Amino acid sequence: MAVLPGFVNAHTHAAMVLLRGLGEEAPLMEWLQQKIWPVEDKLTPEYIYWGTLSAMLEMLSTGTTCFADMYFEMDRVAEAVLSAGMRAAICRGITAGEPGKIERSLQNNLDLAEKYHGREGLITVQLGPHAPYTVPLDSMKLISQEAKSHGLGVHFHFLETEGELKNLGMTPEKYLEESGLLNVPYLTLAHAVWLDPATTVPDNVTLIHNPCSNLKLGSGVMPLAYWLDRDISVALGTDGASSNNRLDMWEEMRTTALLHKGVNKDPVCVSALEVLRMATYEGAKAYGFSQKGMIQEGWVADLVLVNLDKPHYIGVNDENLAAYIVYAGSSADVEGTMINGKWLYKNGQFPTLDKEEIVQKTIAARDAITQ
Ligand code: NI
Repeated sequence: MAVLPGFVNAHTHAAMVLLRGLGEEAPLMEWLQQKIWPVEDKLTPEYIYWGTLSAMLEMLSTGTTCFADMYFEMDRVAEAVLSAGMRAAICRGITAGEPGKIERSLQNNLDLAEKYHGREGLITVQLGPHAPYTVPLDSMKLISQEAKSHGLGVHFHFLETEGELKNLGMTPEKYLEESGLLNVPYLTLAHAVWLDPATTVPDNVTLIHNPCSNLKLGSGVMPLAYWLDRDISVALGTDGASSNNRLDMWEEMRTTALLHKGVNKDPVCVSALEVLRMATYEGAKAYGFSQKGMIQEGWVADLVLVNLDKPHYIGVNDENLAAYIVYAGSSADVEGTMINGKWLYKNGQFPTLDKEEIVQKTIAARDAITQ
């Protein structure tokens, strides 16, 4: 067996497991506007609760101990997280719509923080403006001010597609400055595919790399090797299950390590060890979790137990473990997932969750929203 720090899925929309498979192989905007948003309108707090639990079954069984979630009805997400004893960084996705919608969503996000930030050491709350194309700049300024005055981080989709970069109306650097986002306690930028690697990125910012989702939606490839060269913090995430379609950090690790070597024609860049760090410590740090993401004395026991007693691990040793995990391993090797010293997944069982009930309720929710 090997013990690793638990994986931190640094950008996802857990309840989107309910929308998995809808609108496959379409461009981002067409996919969102025609396939995803109309079905999302049918989601109820109940459906989101069960969908989130279903996503947690997938994440726990693949070694994820913490996930950063941007969605809505986040009170129900918090309840799901606390009932299982999992760890999560949660924010309410804020988008423009009818008059007053942004203000209401922002208030809802602030209420969420008031109620859940720091709860049982398992949850941190961020503000969640969705993206530059769904939140006007004036509202971004307001959200940044509120984040600063409440001491909260911001989780934001930024420059996922090339079109977004063109429509920004200014340079990304100028946008980040104008919006006030650089003044918040910490900021996570999901995707950042089209952010020029020469851009100034302060220490309070973490870029979140979602390689599988970016590949599947044809969004492009983040210039990761350049960011790592500059010691910029980058964490890994899956994005939602409707654009990935897995919630499996092993898949993101392997893809990351392979993709950038190929793109850069350089077998030395983006090492297995760097990728493991991105999948663990960097994600925990990005969302304000301290003493998590590494195995150290006095740190919290968020761990994955990996079964090395398999043919594809023959030859593994202390020196090459990271490479075996990233290149030869898969989530099928996970034997146990521990959070805060408690097993949440062990030998195929989920001690704190009723798997049968979750699966049944999720099937019913899926049927209801796709009718
Ligand atoms: Ni996303």
